Amino acid sequence: MAITLRKSYKFAFRSALLIAGVLSVCMGFFMQIKASIDWSLLSIFAFLSFLISFFVIQVRVEKFIYKRAKKIYDDISLLESSSLSSRTITTDMATLTQEIEKFAKDKKVEIDTLKIREEYRKDFLGNVSHELKTPLFTVQGYILTLLDGAMKDKNVRKKYLQRANKGVERLIYIVKDLDMITKLEVGDLHLEMSDFDIIELIQSVFDLLEMKALKRNITLAFDMEYIHPIIVRADRERIQQVVTNLIVNSIKYGNENGTTEVSVENLIKNKVIVRVTDNGEGIARQHIPRLFERFYRVDKSGSRTEGGSGLGLSIVKHIIEAHDEKIYVESVLGVGSEFSFTLEKAKNKVV
Ligand SMILES: Nc1ncnc2c1ncn2[C@@H]1O[C@H](COP(=O)(O)OP(=O)(O)O)[C@@H](O)[C@H]1O
Ligand SMILES: [Mg+2]
Repeated sequence: MAITLRKSYKFAFRSALLIAGVLSVCMGFFMQIKASIDWSLLSIFAFLSFLISFFVIQVRVEKFIYKRAKKIYDDISLLESSSLSSRTITTDMATLTQEIEKFAKDKKVEIDTLKIREEYRKDFLGNVSHELKTPLFTVQGYILTLLDGAMKDKNVRKKYLQRANKGVERLIYIVKDLDMITKLEVGDLHLEMSDFDIIELIQSVFDLLEMKALKRNITLAFDMEYIHPIIVRADRERIQQVVTNLIVNSIKYGNENGTTEVSVENLIKNKVIVRVTDNGEGIARQHIPRLFERFYRVDKSGSRTEGGSGLGLSIVKHIIEAHDEKIYVESVLGVGSEFSFTLEKAKNKVV
């Protein structure tokens, strides 16, 4: 531990001055009683007593403070070996107080972060068990009814087994989302970057979701005809997940007979922006800032029947941010929503 004493002479100086002053007045007083004041002798006495007091006080006080300051440093470095121990010990009270205040402040920030994290963890566990409970009880309900005798009726049996299976599918879906979000949050996501045509990817998502959209009579379309491919550089599978999540949402929260429109535009030199626009129910302004939080749903009861986990948008955001890109949302209640994200264009390869 490097030890240099930061000295503060002010205290010793003043104390010595005071002692020398008082002693000299006493001395002068005695001199006057004995004879007359010998001014030169008295000033030598005053000077000497000042000097002696000054050094004695300076050394003693410094030792005294150093000992206590060192104890404080030692106690603190027990808690945190890295933050203070390598610094010099100061016997200057102002600096010492400052350092300790800073230390306390740092600790407070650390404790606050830990508390928030703990809150987060509790919240997460609570949400997870809540999400899993509903489908689990549904499945259990059907199984119990079957065991209670419904098994004998061939028609009911099939229907109930199908419903139980739906519940299991939902469980799997939630667990998959949870798995994904956990991976994303611990930063475990390894991006497999490649160059691909974003138009083709969107078209394939359209094809996959055609049936789902048809059920609500929603049209999935591009804003215009894209004749040329638009090649971007990203993790194809993850971006497909992003596009799927956004389009599924637009179908889920879109109006029947509505339209979901996707556009891809140049943004700046090396970026494109993909927009997914619907003319559905829209989102009230107060919900927008929280939309990307995991498990956040605008209508808790309503969308549950639709089968979302409330994780979709937080997964989307994580994936986009892992690409160092941005996601935006604009929405007007009753008019519709637009989710958009940026992607990097593939560099033109020199052929
Ligand atoms: N296109 C949209 N139109 C209206 N509301 C939407 C749209 N997309 C998402 N939302 C709202 O945002 C919430 C969070 O979406 P998401 O994270 O995908 O969860 P989930 O779809 O599982 O409910 C949804 O519950 C819904 O209320
Ligand atoms: Mg969703």
